[in-house]
Amino acid sequence: MGGSDALVAAARAVRERAAADYSGFKVGAALETADGAIITGCNVENATYGLTVCAERVAVFKAISEGHRRFTRIAVVADTDAPTPPCGACRQILWEFGGDLEVILASLTEIKATLRMKDLLPLPFDRRLLK
Ligand code: THU
Repeated sequence: MGGSDALVAAARAVRERAAADYSGFKVGAALETADGAIITGCNVENATYGLTVCAERVAVFKAISEGHRRFTRIAVVADTDAPTPPCGACRQILWEFGGDLEVILASLTEIKATLRMKDLLPLPFDRRLLK
C-alpha cells in the first residue's frame, strides 16, 4: 500500500483527464481496495448536463466492474481552497460499496480534510432496511 501520498497523487493525476468542458471544474478520485490496488476516476460531463457522472462514481463503477468489492479509502482532488466533498448521489454509492470509508479531500498541493463516510452520510438508507 502506498499511503495517503500515493492515493492523493493518483487522484491528482487522473483529474487531468476530466471531461469537464461545461463546468470547467475538474475532479479526480482514487479508491483504494482492501488489497492495496488503486482505482481512479474523473468526472465525465455531458451536453445534457444531467447525465454528468462525478469522479467518485466513475471510480466506484470501474472498481466494481474490475472485480473489486472491498475498499478502505478514497481520495478526492479538486483545484479549490475549500475541500470538495462527494455530492449526495456519490455518498449513497460510496456507502453502498465502501461503507465507512476514510475520505481524503485534497487540493493540487495539500490535504484539506480527512473524514469518514459515516459522518458524511448519517442515517443512511441501505440494504439493512430492505426487510
Ligand atoms: N463533481 C465531481 O466529480 N465530484 C464532486 O465531488 C463534486 C462535483 C463534478 C460534477 C461536475 O462535473 C463538476 O464537478 C461540477 O459540479
